[in-house]
Amino acid sequence: MKSVMVQQPDKLVIEDRPVPQPLQGEVRIRVSSAGICGSDVHIYHGHNPFAKYPRVIGHEFFGHIDATGEGVDPSRIGERVVGDPVVSCGHCYPCSVGRPNVCTELEVIGVHRDGGFSEYLTLPAKNAHQVPDSIPDSEATMVEPFTIAANICNQMDPGPLDVALVYGAGPMGLTSIQALRGVYGVKEIIAVDRIDERLAMATANGADQVINNSNLDLASELKDRGIRPTLIIDAACHPAILPEAIGLASPAARIGIMGFSADPCVLSQQAITSKEITIYSSRLNSNRFPQVIDWMTNHKIHPKKLITHQFAYAQVLDAMEIFEKDQKQCCKVLLKF
Ligand code: NAI
Ligand code: MN
Ligand code: ZN
Repeated sequence: MKSVMVQQPDKLVIEDRPVPQPLQGEVRIRVSSAGICGSDVHIYHGHNPFAKYPRVIGHEFFGHIDATGEGVDPSRIGERVVGDPVVSCGHCYPCSVGRPNVCTELEVIGVHRDGGFSEYLTLPAKNAHQVPDSIPDSEATMVEPFTIAANICNQMDPGPLDVALVYGAGPMGLTSIQALRGVYGVKEIIAVDRIDERLAMATANGADQVINNSNLDLASELKDRGIRPTLIIDAACHPAILPEAIGLASPAARIGIMGFSADPCVLSQQAITSKEITIYSSRLNSNRFPQVIDWMTNHKIHPKKLITHQFAYAQVLDAMEIFEKDQKQCCKVLLKF
């Protein structure tokens, strides 16, 4: 079988490997479609501290079950499935409180173990979630990116009184905007980015107002527009954003962050406590696949709007290059296997 493998940082190849056999409790997926994510690019360039090489990348994948390991019902063969990349131990403290995404033994498919940019992969049977026939293959491939939005929203509990500000109109900001609009029905959504084309996508995905903050002071712009955000999602993830967001936020606001920068940022206790602001952080997803599949089934979100490019896997280098360099036109890029 063919797999897209990062042999070492900056060296991406298509390699012929033996088809893996599912172990006890596992299924094998014949992958048909997989999405490129910023974190795949980070592994490609050696910027992910958790990645070990060589590594088959890819954690957003869709296909069908074509083999089952011992202890797995063979009638699952043929199921159309998406794979949850979060592999957890099931018994540590975070697992016991429903947070397998921060399991003490966490293994992420495509990061810590071989991933979905491959004709086949094996994974625990419970990580393979069946997708109804009404959801087309390419849209099903988008379940994972929406689970990121589902995870942060599940913590922040957005509602109709919320004025939501979303930093960043890349794939993560846009999935969040779609969820805030279509699932949670917040009162108003403001998207902030530095790229006008991306802000146009934010509007197309449900933002009511957009602000290009490349040349203005966001705090005074919001003041001029009479906006006091009650819910802020940082999907741009620069370390300077959290202190700014704390300043902009309404009293009693919630702020959600999802960045992985190791750089420090300076916060004042007074700025947080005087407004009793709650800060959430969110990593990957904690069992959010069924929820997102339900959103898609009921047309609450519109994954198709985010898919801008599709390539055969043999063109993976071109696909990665467009994804990295063309932020104006490009949102989600899918590979076909
Ligand atoms: P992306 O790079 O495509 O989008 C980020 C957007 O933020 C860009 O459009 C950029 O122009 C904008 N931006 C950058 N600095 C800004 C600023 N100061 N103000 C306003 N906009 C700014 O990335 P993508 O894929 O949407 O992911 C966003 C972030 O989320 C990344 O940092 C990624 O590492 C993180 N992430 C976190 C996950 C988690 O589970 N916690 C999962 C996936 C991504
Ligand atoms: Mn991803
Ligand atoms: Zn665990």
